[in-house]
Amino acid sequence: MIGRLNHVAIAVPDLEQASALYRDTLGAQVSEPMDEPDHGVTTVFIELPNTKIELLHPLGENSPIQTFLDKNPSGGMHHVCYEVDDIIVARDKMKADGARVLGSGEPKIGAHGKPVLFLHPKDFCGTLVELEQV
Ligand code: CO
Repeated sequence: MIGRLNHVAIAVPDLEQASALYRDTLGAQVSEPMDEPDHGVTTVFIELPNTKIELLHPLGENSPIQTFLDKNPSGGMHHVCYEVDDIIVARDKMKADGARVLGSGEPKIGAHGKPVLFLHPKDFCGTLVELEQV
């Protein structure tokens, strides 16, 4: 059911430094930072030939990324995002199979203007999984 790997997200304590690392040291194409108040994050996207890397930095109070960085002060892999054709069909299958959908269970509009959902890491090999309808 899942399709392409849309992106891998990495939480970073210093967005400037991480952007420079990917742009200058790794030689990748790096976007400008974008604030996403609905998600409590500032993101930078890195375009790779076959997928993207999403750098995440906390924005505002109670950002979910802050909690993650408190546990992983130098940053770390935060989630993987898989593409699905129909997010409602995907969600209902996940729930029927006993997986937990985070939050209200209703899709939110994610960083690319497309509906997204997050699945509980304990149900997916210790990895937070984002589903994005493409
Ligand atoms: Co993401």
